[in-house]
Amino acid sequence: MTRILVTGGAGYIGSTATALLADRGYEVVVLDDLSMGHADAVDPRATFIEGSILDADLLRNALAGCEAVIHFAGKSLVGESVEKPELYHRVNVDGTQTLLEAMSIHGIDKIVFSSSAATYGQPIDNPITEESFASPTNPYGASKLAIDKMITSAGISAISLRYFNVAGAYQTTQGWLAERHNPETHLIPLVLRATEDNPLKIFGTDWDTKDGTCVRDYVHVVDLIEAHIMALGALKPHVHEIVNLGSGGGYSVREVISVASQVLARPVPAVESPRRAGDPATLVASIVKAKSLLGWEPTRALETMISDAVKSQAQ
Ligand code: UFG
Repeated sequence: MTRILVTGGAGYIGSTATALLADRGYEVVVLDDLSMGHADAVDPRATFIEGSILDADLLRNALAGCEAVIHFAGKSLVGESVEKPELYHRVNVDGTQTLLEAMSIHGIDKIVFSSSAATYGQPIDNPITEESFASPTNPYGASKLAIDKMITSAGISAISLRYFNVAGAYQTTQGWLAERHNPETHLIPLVLRATEDNPLKIFGTDWDTKDGTCVRDYVHVVDLIEAHIMALGALKPHVHEIVNLGSGGGYSVREVISVASQVLARPVPAVESPRRAGDPATLVASIVKAKSLLGWEPTRALETMISDAVKSQAQ
C-alpha cells in the first residue's frame, strides 16, 4: 500500500485530504503541530505525529517508509503575515527547506505542494494562468512563491497546486470536516454566521467589477483534494509543474451573499464597509492546465459549497 506523509493533516484542507486518501486505500501519516489544526480532525485511520516541520528529527521518523509527501503545513493568514513576516518566512520557507532535506535523506523525491493564488498578487489580467506574472503583495504570498522556487531548484518530481478560494466541507463517517479558523476571516463562514446585530461587512462596494464588490473564484474542498490525488499520479521524474485550482469562474461578494440567502432561505444581514487593505478586485483562475495535465475538473457548485458548510455547522 502506498504510504504518504501529509503535513498539516489536522487543518481544514489537510484533514480532508487525509480522509479522502484513506478512503482510496492510501496509508497516511499525518504530521501537524496543532497550531492551527485540531487533533480530532485527523482521520482515525491515519498515524498522527504531533510536531513541527521545523523539527528535522521528527520529520525523519515521520517520513520512514513513505513514497511521497503532500505538504499543507504552514501559516496561512494574509493579515497576520503582514504583521509577522519573519514568522511566515521561518515556518513556511525554512520549514519546507527542512522537509525537503529530510525527504532527500530518505530518497523520497515526490511532493505535491499547497501553493496559493496569493503568489500572483494584483493580477494584470483575469483569468490568471500559471504563466501570469507572480508578484505577491504580502509575506504569505511571498513565502509560497519562495517555496515554489525552492521546489523547482530541488529537481524532484513535484506539483505545486495554487489554490484560489477554498470552501465547503466533507462528511466522513466520524462527522463533518470543515473550516474552524480562529479568528475566522473567510467570507463564506462569516456570511453564515452574520446576524442583524453582527452583520457581514462587505469590504468595498466601489471596485471595478460587475457590481462593485470583489470577485473571487471558489472551489469545493473535495474537488480540490481530488486534484491532489490526481497530482500524485501525474508526477514526472525531475519535473516541477505549477497548476492553478479554482472553478474557472468568479462570484462577487454580493453574489455569494445572494446564493447563501437562497440556501439558508433567509436574508443575510450585511453592511457596506470600506475596502480591506491588500484585496485585489478580481481573482479568477484559468483551469485549462489542471484539466489537461491532471484530467481534473471541479464538479461542485457554489450552492453545494455553501450548503455543505451549513450542514457542517449544524452538526
Ligand atoms: N470579504 C468581505 N467581508 C468579510 C470577509 C471577506 O467582503 O468579512 C471579501 C473579501 O474582501 C474578498 C472576498 O470576500 O473580496 C473573499 O475573502 P476571503 O478572506 O474569504 O478570501 P481571500 O480572497 O482574501 O483569500 C484567499 C485565501 C488566502 C489567499 C488569498 C489570495 O483564503 O489564503 O485568497 O489568494 F491568500
